[in-house]
Amino acid sequence: MDFTLPTLSRSEMITLQLRSLFESAEYQLFRMGSFEAYDFYMQNRSFLSSDDIISFTGADGRLMALKPDVTLSIVKNTKPGEIRRVYYNESVFRRGRDTGEYREINQMGLEYIGGAAKASEVEVVSIAAKSLSLAGETSLDLSHMGFIEALLTPFSGELYNEALAALRNKNPQLMRQTAAAAGLPDELIDRLERLSLLSGPFNTTICLARELTAGMSGVLRPLEELDELSRALSDSQPDIDLRVDFSILNDVDYYNGLIFQGFLKGVAHPILAGGRYDNLMTRFGKKQGAIGFAIYLDELERTEILIKKPKDNRLSIALPKGRMGESVYAVFEKAGLECDGILEESRKLIFEDKAGKVRYFLVKPSDVSSYVEHGVADIGVTGKDLLLETGADVLELADMGVGKCRIVVAGKPDYTENFTFPVRAATKYPNIARGYYAKKSGSVEIIMLHGSIELAPLTGLADVIVDIVESGTTLKENNLVVHDEIAVSSARLIANRASWRFKQQEINALLSSLKEIL
Ligand code: PRP
Repeated sequence: MDFTLPTLSRSEMITLQLRSLFESAEYQLFRMGSFEAYDFYMQNRSFLSSDDIISFTGADGRLMALKPDVTLSIVKNTKPGEIRRVYYNESVFRRGRDTGEYREINQMGLEYIGGAAKASEVEVVSIAAKSLSLAGETSLDLSHMGFIEALLTPFSGELYNEALAALRNKNPQLMRQTAAAAGLPDELIDRLERLSLLSGPFNTTICLARELTAGMSGVLRPLEELDELSRALSDSQPDIDLRVDFSILNDVDYYNGLIFQGFLKGVAHPILAGGRYDNLMTRFGKKQGAIGFAIYLDELERTEILIKKPKDNRLSIALPKGRMGESVYAVFEKAGLECDGILEESRKLIFEDKAGKVRYFLVKPSDVSSYVEHGVADIGVTGKDLLLETGADVLELADMGVGKCRIVVAGKPDYTENFTFPVRAATKYPNIARGYYAKKSGSVEIIMLHGSIELAPLTGLADVIVDIVESGTTLKENNLVVHDEIAVSSARLIANRASWRFKQQEINALLSSLKEIL
């Protein structure tokens, strides 16, 4: 159905088109109130994208919450054995990871509960693809929790979490380290490293996945399921364009089997996310399977402006200014990406390479990941220390081998750790410091500083500092010593998740030129 009322905004128009699409596929509108009991969400907190939920005390004294999610309520309201096709258009309330502010998010979603496994997958993914095509140039990426679980079989405990992070962030170096720490043979380490970067058009990527996982147990069935799904979809929708990307993964306590995400060119984050969640149904004591997806409509409003802009196919790179910047730029220059004037003393912030294919933004090192996460820069280079501190949701594609340093706890030589009182730690890395002391179950009082951190223990402002050490000169010249090492750091090439979908060729070309010299 075509809705062309001139007063409708883009997302309002797409909402109407989606309603029409969902209803013609015989899905019924599900309406819910704005509140649920706070406990309900707490019991299922790892299903949610964040623990931060807005709560208040209801008239009867119960702690209530403004809903951060709709699927949980639909599952709760479904009878055991019931077959249900529902869709919803609701506001959910979540805290943004980057801004720390709560936001009202307009979400539209669809759930197929209790349908035959294969048929429901074909139906739901087909509707997801049609929904995406209403928005513009998109990419629909499939993944499979069964495949990911099979890849991670050799890992347990902390190493499992590390290997999972390596897949999620496409971090081949972390996968290599983790696999080596798990004592895996070299040949398997090489394959896992390549698997951590695996992503691309459906057929070639599935073929490569088969090759790279030859002989591994548990991988064939999931790959076959993906293949069957793709064949069934191409039969009913010949123009469907699917990709495979194993960095898409969800919590195994809730999701199993097929999972997928949809991206829209010009939008930095996925605008559609879904998957099979039989495990969630089981947790609610319901035996029927279920699959569904949600679309984030607010993201579409912003694209109205972006879509009107002329197409810009240049690769945008955020480079850190200062100490690390010079060595990082030297690596780019060696790789043939030189750019006149970038090293000259000036206040200019945007530069272009000679061929006009690459644009550089010069930003503060601590801001690089924001530019990349929000998609303003497609890729960037920043320190691992800053990635650990910000927890930025970006892909970590390569270690640039420069800017090497250690994140340490340092203090006066006679300092001994004693949790009789909270440790006073001065730092520019509050999250890293908090995480370090939480692991030790020790109380800490963080004193946030922005520079000359070493002064804090010397003047009695703090007992210790949590900071980076590169050459060790600053500590030495101030008679301080390292008491513990938290992590090692170096410059990392990071990429925006959506740019990876739409500019993968350009990013891979740059990655190969860099790898030749790294
Ligand atoms: C960093 C860090 C240490 C110093 C360590 O400070 O905070 O102070 O480098 O380097 P070194 O081991 O080679 O001596 P930065 O130079 O960024 O300046 P700042 O003190 O203003 O933060």
